[in-house]
Amino acid sequence: MSTTEHTASADWLQSVRWNSAENRLDLLDQRLLPDEIVYLALTTSEQVWDAIKQLAVRGAPAIGISAAYGVYLGVRDHSGGRDELLDAAVKQCDYLATSRPTAVNLFWALDRMKQRARELASAGTEPEALKQALLDEAKLIQSEDEETCRLIGEHALSLFEDGMGLLTHCNAGGLATARYGTALAPMYLAQERGIRLKVYADETRPVLQGARLTAFELQQAGVDVTLICDNMAGAVMSKGWVQAVIVGTDRVAANGDVANKIGTYSVAVLAKAHGIPVYVACPTSTIDMNTPTGADIPIEERHEDEITQGFGKRTAPQGIKVYNPAFDVTPNEYVTAIITEKGIVRAPYTENLKKLFN
Ligand code: MRU
Repeated sequence: MSTTEHTASADWLQSVRWNSAENRLDLLDQRLLPDEIVYLALTTSEQVWDAIKQLAVRGAPAIGISAAYGVYLGVRDHSGGRDELLDAAVKQCDYLATSRPTAVNLFWALDRMKQRARELASAGTEPEALKQALLDEAKLIQSEDEETCRLIGEHALSLFEDGMGLLTHCNAGGLATARYGTALAPMYLAQERGIRLKVYADETRPVLQGARLTAFELQQAGVDVTLICDNMAGAVMSKGWVQAVIVGTDRVAANGDVANKIGTYSVAVLAKAHGIPVYVACPTSTIDMNTPTGADIPIEERHEDEITQGFGKRTAPQGIKVYNPAFDVTPNEYVTAIITEKGIVRAPYTENLKKLFN
């Protein structure tokens, strides 16, 4: 990625920042956390595509927000008339949509950008004003996400009590969103209100989002967090230390099946065996009513190096066959409730998710 980079202080870890002074996108490079806090300075949509593909920015809402800014970066130097600009904006949306396949927030944000561009063009908006409106739309997607996450946190916190143990998988925190996160939002609100929650963070092999990101951001915020390896979750549950599992998601199908980071399904099965509720926290933009079931969700497969040399050294024999899906699907019968900014949805999901959109 050919970008200039700069470091920032550790006290404000906003993963996506629009830099108005420089008219560019500053993205916290999450690949370097927790060791280094480095912001990438992005000025082209190709750089945004790379940042999404290579997980410099990751987490469903943060990917969508970044891609929206990417659309603006892709058209801001366009010199043609209104119709050519609209074509270019639509092409940028289609291009950015190829960066990752599973998180529906990416397509949701890009569809919203496309729709805005079409509305403005058909209203006769001049090219420079149209470009500015696309930037404003990206900013709006970001600011709305912050409010959405806070509301998710409020709803989720209503399910928890002082002293409870929670287990989470991957990172669905502030780093994955505009702020607060989805699954981690109630932990931040609890912290603000003096409600003590004890969090167990799965390290989340192979890319270690739990160890590098969740443990890091909760520790920074002073939340009581304990890091465990993925294969310790069952043992921790059997000791009675976990009263609820809460995770984020990349896409919820219309029947309530949930795609999330690989390993979520195993956690859900373990939780069911121990009688522990499994909560899935997400904005309604993560619910894809056009995807009937989990079997229809495209699951990204990533490079074998994430498994064979994920720790910076080779940990498997050369030439070994590797299977590396980035996500799995948890069937709806393992999901106790889906917590959105509009409220808490329970089974039957096909019926109740539909009601959410009416
Ligand atoms: O591959 P990643 O790190 O983008 O995967 C992220 C997750 O699986 C998150 O749990 C999900 O996107 C929800 S983020 C609020």
